[in-house]
Amino acid sequence: KREEEMRCTHVITFLDYYQNRVELSFEDHPFSVHPLHVWVIAVYEGKWLLTHHKQRGYEFPGGKVEPGETAEEAAYREVMEETGGRIERLQYIGQYRVEGRGDTIIKNIYFAQIESLVPHLAVDETDGAYLLDDIPKRLDTNRQYSFMMKDRVLPETLRVLAERRLV
Ligand code: GTP
Repeated sequence: KREEEMRCTHVITFLDYYQNRVELSFEDHPFSVHPLHVWVIAVYEGKWLLTHHKQRGYEFPGGKVEPGETAEEAAYREVMEETGGRIERLQYIGQYRVEGRGDTIIKNIYFAQIESLVPHLAVDETDGAYLLDDIPKRLDTNRQYSFMMKDRVLPETLRVLAERRLV
């Protein structure tokens, strides 16, 4: 009983690109069962599938969960809207919480295998699919990449994907 009470969720804490506090965990929905944001690490034919956001730069697809939608449904929709990718298999990987200046956001991280890329339906914010063989080493100083790709969420997630033999 005692041990049960003392066992705590394993959380990695760090600052993001904007110096906001981030808590990251690869346990089952540690911060919220209904997070309002999703981020999808997608692969298609052995390549990473990113999108190009007009302001932020290259990033893995994702976004906000809409009213009436589950987080998983949002993941399918955002990947399609931002890249034209159809998800074949979607797996929950982890979750993180960012304490912004005003609001705190909680985001689910998924791993998605993409079965096909359909012509990208133009959505104002992104320029569609961007396929990448290897993720560059130093993203923090790379101006082509989004701030989302520049904190510890990405390397820690890639480490977990490799440990779980998913990539
Ligand atoms: P929209 O223009 O409505 O999309 O909103 P927004 O800029 O207010 O964004 P959102 O609500 O998605 O996020 C609020 C803030 O949280 C952002 O400005 C970021 O500082 C932070 N944030 C959002 N997503 C991430 C993320 O994936 N990683 C990190 N580190 N911070 C994030």
